[in-house]
Amino acid sequence: MTKIKEIKAGAMNVQKFIDDKVRAIRQAVGEGYAINALSGGVDSAVVTALGHKALGNRLKTYIIDNGIMREKEPAQVAAAFKKLGIPVEVVDAQKAFFKAFQGVTDPEEKREAVTQTFYKDVFGKLVVKSKAKYLLQGTILTDVDETVAGIKRQHNVFEQLGIDPQKAFGYKILEPLIELRKDGVRKVGAGLGLPESMFARIPFPGPALAARVIGEVTPERIALVRKATGIVEAALKNVPAFQYLAILHEDRVTGMRDGKRVFGNQIEIRCWDSKDARTAKPTRLPYEVLEKMAAKITKSIPEVVSVTYNITTKPTSTIEAV
Ligand code: XMP
Repeated sequence: MTKIKEIKAGAMNVQKFIDDKVRAIRQAVGEGYAINALSGGVDSAVVTALGHKALGNRLKTYIIDNGIMREKEPAQVAAAFKKLGIPVEVVDAQKAFFKAFQGVTDPEEKREAVTQTFYKDVFGKLVVKSKAKYLLQGTILTDVDETVAGIKRQHNVFEQLGIDPQKAFGYKILEPLIELRKDGVRKVGAGLGLPESMFARIPFPGPALAARVIGEVTPERIALVRKATGIVEAALKNVPAFQYLAILHEDRVTGMRDGKRVFGNQIEIRCWDSKDARTAKPTRLPYEVLEKMAAKITKSIPEVVSVTYNITTKPTSTIEAV
């Protein structure tokens, strides 16, 4: 296994990095085709723009609608990239993902379900259809660190776990951002001319809202956490935090509505100050902001009776719940 040498954001020459990676992608893919998946997250947005610069229409970009993305995200991301002149195709894979989640409650098994469905099932078929030999993906150094340290099996890490994607899935994986952390990726996004709304966006994990549902991931439970996510993101959009999110707990608690007892769901809000996601501190949000979010969530989502705010640092917490 090759040791990855970190390129620090402060020390990087962005144009040189882009030129080097464009050359390397062209060299690897040759006259052939590559494909990639765009989720709308910062890393996949940057890798899509980089791959497009290197390969033009020999890069085929798909948005996998896995059923666990945020409100209207697949259509919005597709439209934003079309505007940049980068064509993307939305693939409906919701059934395959929800089937894989059935009965799965263990966090690592849930992550594995995402990985297998994404790389073997959905991408396996797309690779055959597109005749591509390469998958371009936005793995970053933090993903590798956490997987190797055994903290979380990040959905997009293989070589460092001794898995050969060629043998396991039938195609090779190119990872041009692997020496970078999030701050470096953002610089590359800016250097590639992406709009700030894309590269400065708060991070969103590969396993999407499944990383924010404790217990079984079902369409109903995703719908619930999706609504809470929309409320939290809207309320905090002007807060200069690293990341903010809503989590659906597995345990229900006794609450009350209209003077009657309800055994309802709990949403946990997290908001993080961090530079590179390796360590993080809860943002000291004003109480009024917290109270407003709680009121909006319990008003808009009848199934939720309790809202909490995380006050723990990473470590011991992690940023996502799963
Ligand atoms: P954690 O929860 O491990 O998250 O403290 C650290 C950062 O990584 C994001 N994250 C992921 N990103 N694939 C990704 O591409 C994943 O499997 C994954 N899991 C977590 C998370 O949102 C945070 O920014």
